[in-house]
Amino acid sequence: MSDSDHIFLLLSTISALLIIFILINRKKPRFNLPPGNMGWPFIGETIGYLKPYSATSVGEFMENHIARYGKIYKSNLFGEPTIVSVDAGLNRFIFQNEGKLFECSYPRSIGGILGKWSMLVLVGDMHRDMRIISLNFLSHNRLRTHLLREVESHTCLVLNAWKDNSVFSAQDEAKRFTFNLMAKHIMSMDPGKPETEHLKREYVTFMKGVVSAPLNLPGCAYRKALQSRSTILKFIEEKMKERIRKMEEGEQDMEEDDLLGWVLKHSNLSTEQILDLVLSLLFAGHETSSVAIALSIYFLQGCPAAIKQLQEEHLEIAIAKKQSGETELNWEDYKKMEFTQCVVNETLRLGNVVRFLHRKALKDVRYQGYDIPSGWKVLPVLAAVHLDSSLFDHPQSFNPWRWQQNSGSRGGTSNDFMPFGGGPRLCAGSELAKLEMAVFTHHLVLNYRWELAEPDQPFAFPFVDFPKGLPIKVKHQPLI
Ligand code: HEM
Ligand SMILES: *[C@@H]1O[C@H](CO)[C@@H](O)[C@H](O)[C@H]1NC(C)=O
Ligand SMILES: *[C@@H]1O[C@H](CO)[C@@H](O)[C@H](O)[C@H]1NC(C)=O
Repeated sequence: MSDSDHIFLLLSTISALLIIFILINRKKPRFNLPPGNMGWPFIGETIGYLKPYSATSVGEFMENHIARYGKIYKSNLFGEPTIVSVDAGLNRFIFQNEGKLFECSYPRSIGGILGKWSMLVLVGDMHRDMRIISLNFLSHNRLRTHLLREVESHTCLVLNAWKDNSVFSAQDEAKRFTFNLMAKHIMSMDPGKPETEHLKREYVTFMKGVVSAPLNLPGCAYRKALQSRSTILKFIEEKMKERIRKMEEGEQDMEEDDLLGWVLKHSNLSTEQILDLVLSLLFAGHETSSVAIALSIYFLQGCPAAIKQLQEEHLEIAIAKKQSGETELNWEDYKKMEFTQCVVNETLRLGNVVRFLHRKALKDVRYQGYDIPSGWKVLPVLAAVHLDSSLFDHPQSFNPWRWQQNSGSRGGTSNDFMPFGGGPRLCAGSELAKLEMAVFTHHLVLNYRWELAEPDQPFAFPFVDFPKGLPIKVKHQPLI
């Protein structure tokens, strides 16, 4: 044998031994993981997952992955091994087992900016305590007695400033409305006052950081947002001190009706906790519902038949009020807005303001033959369920009538429709959000006609945004 033959024999022997060694030592797969692709080390498939796409679709990444792997697949996202769920049943199962099999788990950067006491990141008893406070503040009773009136007056404040034949960003107007409402309800701040405008400006910088890459480097949006966060917190703390002073002086005023007053009086939260609670409520209540209102303005301009039916519904309510000499909407009026509720649901279904949530498995979980290992991230994707053609007919089209009873077109069951999440973390403001959308629609369709001033459409970044701010041209045409 020649030298090269020797080397060849040696190499083959080593390879053969190596293969045998690997085969013997290969652990039987302990888990039956769902199919999927773990992508590159560390970044995994995150870049593909976060690539912007039309908000009324699930995006190319999701489409390809569902086609290849099905409704439950594994991936590597945000630096962690992850199970993505587009399955309505698994999403419900995740919500129902919050705190038992799964737990809320937002990326560290979110906690860094919203605060470690923010409701979005808290779990366990502390979450429960904060949730009780929020629910108290957004209760059915308060909606009827306080919030309906506030919502209507803030709607009119915004809409009455619209000039005939003017062009402006509808998204900015929706933001103005929800910000004013939240600032008033949480801290009794009045719209248009310098301090409110100042807070709003800081808040815009803050928001840019929440949705940007978490790079704490000079000049980066995240760094600027952390600075805004501390400015905002200082501001809230001042408000708080002022309030405590007033309370000690025994000044009884209407302000104790706001969240700040209530928390100071009825809870034993620390200053730090109150600050994070106020900030996270401002965030949760303002960003989401303003996008929802902008989406309804967008979808409706593309659906004249829905506007016509809304006008009929709201005109009837308005005429009855006029005849009885009332000026403000009451709860009975709100309950009459039936078709409007269909428009609200359809807007949330197609627009998907909150597209997916962050969870992690607390234990090894088995679901429909698949294993989800303890410690893995789990992302329930609400949007993909709402846009699933096996649950909703023609899911990409805006069709509020699908929500009418006996509509004939399959509207999915309310079990498949989860725009506000579910279980013990179901959105605390869902009823307020629907009220805001309905009351805004009431005054909008009764007073204005509108069209897009330039083409624009909602994108998922994955937070939903109109790149041009949804520029509209309005005509003032009061129906009554
Ligand atoms: C259309 C508008 C809205 C949508 C689509 C929406 C959606 C959601 C979703 C999906 C969650 C669950 C997050 C998770 O489980 O990880 C949530 C939580 C929450 N939302 Fe909303 N929301 C909206 C409006 C509001 C409003 C107006 C408020 C009022 C302040 C609000 C307050 C909250 C709070 C406090 C939580 C945390 C609940 C908890 O952890 O117990 N939301 N929201
Ligand atoms: C508030 O009081 C309750 C008992 O009344 C206690 O369990 C909780 O830990 C307290 N919270 C804080 C933040 O001190
Ligand atoms: C809208 O969706 C909710 C589920 O979030 C459901 O309970 C309600 O009946 C729906 N409204 C209409 C008018 O279909």
